[in-house]
Amino acid sequence: MSNMVVFGTQWGDEGKGKIVDILTEEADIIVRYQGGNNAGHTLVTQGKKFILHLIPSGILHSGKTCLIGNGVVLDPEVFCAEIDKLDQSGIAITPEKLAVSKKTHLIMPYHKELDQAREAAKSGLDRIGTTGRGIGPCYEDKMSRMGIRAGDLQNMELVRAKIDKALVEKNSLLENLYGRKPVDAQAVFDHIRGLAARIVPYLADVSARIQEAARKGRTVLFEGAQGVQLDIDHGTYPFVTSSNTLTGNASAGAGYLYSMKKVTGVVKAYTTRVGQGPFPTEQDNEFGDHMQKMGAEFGSTTGRKRRCGWLDLVILREAVRLCGPTEIALTKLDVLSGLDTLKICTGYQYQGQVVEYPPQEENAMARVSPVYEDFPGWSQDISAAGSWDDLPDNARRYVGLIEDFLGIKVAIISVGPDRHQTIRLR
Ligand code: GDP
Ligand code: IMO
Ligand code: MG
Repeated sequence: MSNMVVFGTQWGDEGKGKIVDILTEEADIIVRYQGGNNAGHTLVTQGKKFILHLIPSGILHSGKTCLIGNGVVLDPEVFCAEIDKLDQSGIAITPEKLAVSKKTHLIMPYHKELDQAREAAKSGLDRIGTTGRGIGPCYEDKMSRMGIRAGDLQNMELVRAKIDKALVEKNSLLENLYGRKPVDAQAVFDHIRGLAARIVPYLADVSARIQEAARKGRTVLFEGAQGVQLDIDHGTYPFVTSSNTLTGNASAGAGYLYSMKKVTGVVKAYTTRVGQGPFPTEQDNEFGDHMQKMGAEFGSTTGRKRRCGWLDLVILREAVRLCGPTEIALTKLDVLSGLDTLKICTGYQYQGQVVEYPPQEENAMARVSPVYEDFPGWSQDISAAGSWDDLPDNARRYVGLIEDFLGIKVAIISVGPDRHQTIRLR
C-alpha cells in the first residue's frame, strides 16, 4: 500500500487538478476530503478542457474509483450537473465509479443565500470575497450540529424536519438582519426531493471502501482543495475558507488512518490569490500583468481575475512544516518566460526583524514587507520542453533554488496546462 496526497501550498489554484490527473495513473482510488464546489480543478487532455468542482480529478481515467469523503460539503445540484456534463463529454458516471459518503454535509439553497447576503452586507475592506457557493454557512451548520447529510436523503421525512428547523433561524437572519426575502421551506424541500433520487444510488460508506481497498493493497490518492494559506486555522484568517486544507485533514475528512507514502505539495512558480486578503508579494504592476496574462489567471469557479505576484518562500516554508511534503510539483514555470529578472521572497520584515515564517497575529500579513532576492530570468518559450535538459539554465537554477531553500526535491515540472506538458524528474 502506498497512499498519496496532493495539496495546494499557496492560496489555491496551484494546478492541483492537473497533478492529480497525472498521478491518478499510479492510483486505484481518488478521494476528495474537504472543501466543496468553491474549488475549480482544471484538467486539459489533448486540448480538451474539463473543470471539476466536486468530483475528484481522477474521473477522466477509466478503471479508477472516485470517492467524495465526509469532510466535503456537497451541493446536490452541482453534483448532478457535473455528472451530466461528464456524461455529455462521453465519460459515463456510475455508482461503481463514483461514491459519496453518507456523512457528507449538503449545501442547501439557504446556505448560498446567507453566504451572498453576508458578503453583500459587508463594507469593501471587510468582504472576504467568498465564492458565494454557501461553503461557510454549510460548515457552520455542520459544526452547530444542525446540518443535513447526504445519508439523510434516504429518509425524506427527516430532511423535511431538518429544513423546517433550519429555516426558523435562517429566515430570521435573512429577513431581519439582511432585509432579504425568506426562503420557502416547501420550495427547498421540493428542490432537494427532486435531486435525492439521483444521489441516493451514489451513497456509500466511503471510509469502509477505503479501508477495504487498503487491505487489498490498492493505492489511494487523496486530493486536496484550496491551499495552506486558505486553511481555516493556519491561513490568513479571516480571509480564508471554512475547512482545514492541511494534509492531516485527509484522515478526518475521508475516515481513514493517516499513512501517506507520497505527499505532493503543488507549488505554482509564482503566487496568485483570488478574493480579498493580504498578499505580501502581490505585484499590481507590469510583472503581475505579465503573470496574469501569460498564465490566463482567471478563477476556475467564479471567473474573477486572480491577483498575481512573486514566489513567496515564507508561505512555502509554512506549507512544508504544516503538511510535510515528500516532493514538490512545480507548475506554470512556462509563465515566467520573458521576464529579465525574477524576484523570490525569502523572508518578511516584520516589527523590525526579518522573519522566515508568517506572523500569527490577525492580519499581520498585511503589515509585513517582503525581502527579495533577484534572480536572472530566461526568454525562451519552454512550453514544449519534455525533459530537464530542454530547460534553459536559468529555469533549472530557479528550480534548484526552490529545492535548496525548502530542502525538498521537485519531482514534477509542469510547463503548460495539457497533461503532456509535464516533465517527470524522479
Ligand atoms: P487547481 O485549483 O489547483 O486545480 O488549479 P486551477 O485549475 O484552478 O488553476 C490552474 C490553471 O492553470 C488552470 O487553468 C490549468 O489548466 C492551468 N495550468 C496548470 N498547469 C499549468 C502549467 O504548467 N502552465 C500553464 N500555462 N498553465 C497551467
Ligand atoms: P481550488 O481548490 C482559490 C477563496 C475564495 C475566498 C475564500 C473564501 O480551486 O484551489 P469560500 O467560498 O471558500 O468561503 O471563499 O477562499 N477560495 C479559493 N481560492 N482556489 C480555490 O480552490 C478556492 N476556494 C476558495 O476566493 O477568497
Ligand atoms: Mg482552482
